[in-house]
Amino acid sequence: MNITAKTKICMVIGDPVAHSLSPQMHNAGYEALNIDNQYIYVGCKVDVNDIDDFIKGVRVMKIQGISCTMPHKIAVMPYLDEINEVAKKIGAVNTIVNDNGKLIGYNTDWLGIITPLEKITTIKNKRVALIGAGGAARAAAYAVTSKGANLTIYNRTLEKAQKLVEIFGGTAFRLDGLNNITNADIIINTTSVGLKNKNETILPKKFITKNQILFDAVYGNETQFLRDAKEKGTQTIAGVEMLLCQGVEQFKLFTGHDAPVDVMRKILL
Ligand code: ATR
Repeated sequence: MNITAKTKICMVIGDPVAHSLSPQMHNAGYEALNIDNQYIYVGCKVDVNDIDDFIKGVRVMKIQGISCTMPHKIAVMPYLDEINEVAKKIGAVNTIVNDNGKLIGYNTDWLGIITPLEKITTIKNKRVALIGAGGAARAAAYAVTSKGANLTIYNRTLEKAQKLVEIFGGTAFRLDGLNNITNADIIINTTSVGLKNKNETILPKKFITKNQILFDAVYGNETQFLRDAKEKGTQTIAGVEMLLCQGVEQFKLFTGHDAPVDVMRKILL
């Protein structure tokens, strides 16, 4: 163990937080770069009603970097000194950097969507369908529209999908309109369906076609959504890639070093 009194603390906050793989991912990166004497990354369960006190603690203890997960991505925003433009547009902060006492909010979730997609395709003029209209969908909607995609959003609650298309453009449907999704080039599941029960899927298999790309934001064991796609011979992107690619940018923001991506992917898998 190389930790000293000079070691800077980074952390993920959430409620719950124990399931988070971010500590393993970031610490593996510190170790690989031999900076594990300079940085340590832990998890901290923070009640959303205690965010005010938590941020005071960050300032006094000079915590270096914070990853925010559910339900803190919006709650932290009023307490920060600055929010970067992308995070403002997405309307959520998943990364806080302590820049010599100034707390700056960023959003790297959109990179978790766009980086894995751009490895296998171009986005401009593609028809991208999002299923879901929560926080992950906002980051995905920003990601694909900033690269020139045509957006369609399907959600159980139509009003939420309509709100997102007002901001990012596109068309909104209820889930009973999912039969239209066969037109999409790329389908991204941003709902939590499949998170607890890996045999559940939001998208009936009959609506998947071979030439599409299916991306599931749910990570962990392979979901039914992705299993169905693979059975159809459709290209897939697993949720772990999203976790990795948003974390890669966070790593750079926290430490100033380029993340050792392969080491971090290996530990996640
Ligand atoms: P996150 O921030 O992770 O995106 P969220 O904001 O709670 O989480 O959003 C969850 C999304 O999953 C929502 O789009 C939600 O649909 P509603 O807007 O109708 O609530 C969707 N979702 C969750 N459970 C669902 C289910 N059983 N069937 C269909 N959609 C579901």
